[in-house]
Amino acid sequence: MLVTMDKILNKARQEGYGVIAPSTFSLELIGCAIEAAEKKRSPLILNINLKYDALQTEENREIFLYVARERAMRASVPVAINLDHGADYPTVVRAIHHGFTSVMLDASAKPFEENIAAVKEVVHTAHSIGIPVEAELGCVGMADPTFLIETKYTGSSKTDPALVAEYVERTGVDFLAVSIGNAHGPYAKNIVPHIDFDLLEQIAKITPIPLVLHGGSGTGDENLTKACQMGISKINVGTDLMKIATDQAIAGYEENANKGRLRFLTNYVDGYRDGIEYYMDVFGSTHKA
Ligand code: 13P
Repeated sequence: MLVTMDKILNKARQEGYGVIAPSTFSLELIGCAIEAAEKKRSPLILNINLKYDALQTEENREIFLYVARERAMRASVPVAINLDHGADYPTVVRAIHHGFTSVMLDASAKPFEENIAAVKEVVHTAHSIGIPVEAELGCVGMADPTFLIETKYTGSSKTDPALVAEYVERTGVDFLAVSIGNAHGPYAKNIVPHIDFDLLEQIAKITPIPLVLHGGSGTGDENLTKACQMGISKINVGTDLMKIATDQAIAGYEENANKGRLRFLTNYVDGYRDGIEYYMDVFGSTHKA
């Protein structure tokens, strides 16, 4: 069933588990993410960024969201459709018009007061039609796989716990993305990021709203399980799913190339689905639908 994201995440925060928000960047992946959730009896958040290639025209956006909503409505588990990294007010309002059931406004690179003002404006509009909002305090940057020092990310700054209460109160935001040592994209080989659990503990004590971890890939299963138990309720995962899917697609292609069978896309989709199912167990959302 199609739901707004608060229906999924408030329960997750209360019960201490996390829900995967896989980067859903093509039409085939919508159905297979939902299949994974139905198999695991887990809630699911389709995380969709308007920068994806498949969403570059108004027509494609309409079709993509039509398929996502239709699949979500037919699902036997709760599914939310979240706008990932919405850039500004017009983008977010347009996304709501397209049928997203939750929106993120990412103003994390702006100074504190500007971040608050931008998010508050979106919250005002979104809440007036029942759509919840995610925003980010501190800034989750990009992991640079060439840096071998885990703390050196591009454009990162940690969430300041002293600002959390004021930020949540003044913006009225429903979900808070935090920067606690996580980063988007692939880390250098063999580097597992140092997650600042003391900081997470402080933030989780300050606010009862669901917390969000961007850059879930490569974070290490133990770190992720612990973070979910401590208040992280939504975990965005993109890079790891692309890697599993691509590896399986290449293997499928090589195995079948001479046998007249085309296994590229099937294997890709299977790999993506496997990755989601795996993380549902790690985050503790299996059987929580
Ligand atoms: P990863 O690709 O690092 O998993 O990050 C995904 C993400 O945070 C999307 O917002």
